[in-house]
Amino acid sequence: MTTTSTPTTTAPSSGAQSYETLEELVTKRRVIVTVGAGGVGKTTTAAALSVAAAQRGRRVLCLTIDPAKRLAESLGIERMSAEAHDVDPSRFAAAGVPLTGSLTAMMLDTKRTFDELVAKYSSSKAKADSLLNNKLYQYMSTSLAGTQEYMAMEKLVAVKDDPRYDLILLDTPPTANALDFLDAPERMIDALDSAAMKWFIEAFQSTGKLSLNLIARSASVVLKTVGRITGGGFLEAMAGLITELNDLFGGFKQRAAMVQKTLRGPDIAFVLVASPAPTSLKEALYFSERLEEHAMPRGAFVVNRFRLPPAFADDAVSSMAAKAAIDARGLKLDDDAGERIAHAHADQVKLATLDAFFVRSVSEHARARMPVVRVPELASDVHDIRLLAKVAELLMSGGV
Ligand SMILES: Nc1ncnc2c1ncn2[C@@H]1O[C@H](COP(=O)(O)OP(=O)(O)OP(=O)(O)O)[C@@H](O)[C@H]1O
Ligand SMILES: [Mg+2]
Repeated sequence: MTTTSTPTTTAPSSGAQSYETLEELVTKRRVIVTVGAGGVGKTTTAAALSVAAAQRGRRVLCLTIDPAKRLAESLGIERMSAEAHDVDPSRFAAAGVPLTGSLTAMMLDTKRTFDELVAKYSSSKAKADSLLNNKLYQYMSTSLAGTQEYMAMEKLVAVKDDPRYDLILLDTPPTANALDFLDAPERMIDALDSAAMKWFIEAFQSTGKLSLNLIARSASVVLKTVGRITGGGFLEAMAGLITELNDLFGGFKQRAAMVQKTLRGPDIAFVLVASPAPTSLKEALYFSERLEEHAMPRGAFVVNRFRLPPAFADDAVSSMAAKAAIDARGLKLDDDAGERIAHAHADQVKLATLDAFFVRSVSEHARARMPVVRVPELASDVHDIRLLAKVAELLMSGGV
């Protein structure tokens, strides 16, 4: 049921362009990637879109990164396991969310993905084992800049053509900056292939061993990176790593180019997730421009945790009115409760006004290119099936 689609419907109000709605994306695309700055709701959006697609009959694989404990529990997945896990449909049916398709969840495991890659690209099993057991490798495979993002992409490449799934939802790691995700392959190759690394390789190859003297004169970058590794055998570990990485370099480079190509395919869509804060919105827009520059397909712009005005936004709640309402219900609250409710109400009106203002300021630009979907701030974290289905419904219906 793999489908590759071209944008078709739903012209924006300006009528300038046409694009697919989020509902069309989850029913037609093969891969959807949620990207955005740290904490904006990437994991929640990926999980909710997975639910929406499974409700629409698709067989979905949700590749998630470190979901909140309660969210993982409600899907029945073990947070520490990297195995694919078929989510029990009866859990959804019991929560009034029947799935006509299926939902499989998998946690991304950076180290394991890196290890699999090493095993695949090493020229022999012995070489792979020596690299996998190298202390510096063990450090590097989790700590090198961009590794987590790159390995998320690697996992995507590995499962992309798996016939058991119609749609793959890829959650991305928490980055300070959403752009870090796109740049990850280059950053990782740059780090592996940096001048300092090259220097080490040359030094090692010319003498057959590393001398302390040479290390002392070497670029401080590498020493800083590995400086945190303590314990004996440092030089041996470094020499071993350099030899093994050299063995792999060609493989990694080709691989990074291939991963980049996968991310530019027509059957992939990026869902940009942002909070209503101006910096977050700007960053998402900038990301969208970068995607456009690279002719990479953008899917939708989700403004998550949008604060709505209170039901009685127009009539300011006076402390007197609040006090009267409290008394009328026979509640026993502090004397200043009325005043505090009035303040809280006024704050909520202001916050909602600010969110609306900031979002409006970027919407026009974004709306000409992709759907902009506002998901409101819910009263609690999105940690159970019912709330996930609620977010899914909001995303499918175009938001508030
Ligand atoms: N619309 C919403 N209303 C209320 N809570 C929300 C909403 N969206 C997300 N949350 C909550 O916000 C928290 C952060 O969300 P989430 O984990 O999806 O963000 P993230 O972008 O994946 O974060 P990270 O960058 O750390 O991976 C979670 O506790 C989630 O339940
Ligand atoms: Mg996350």
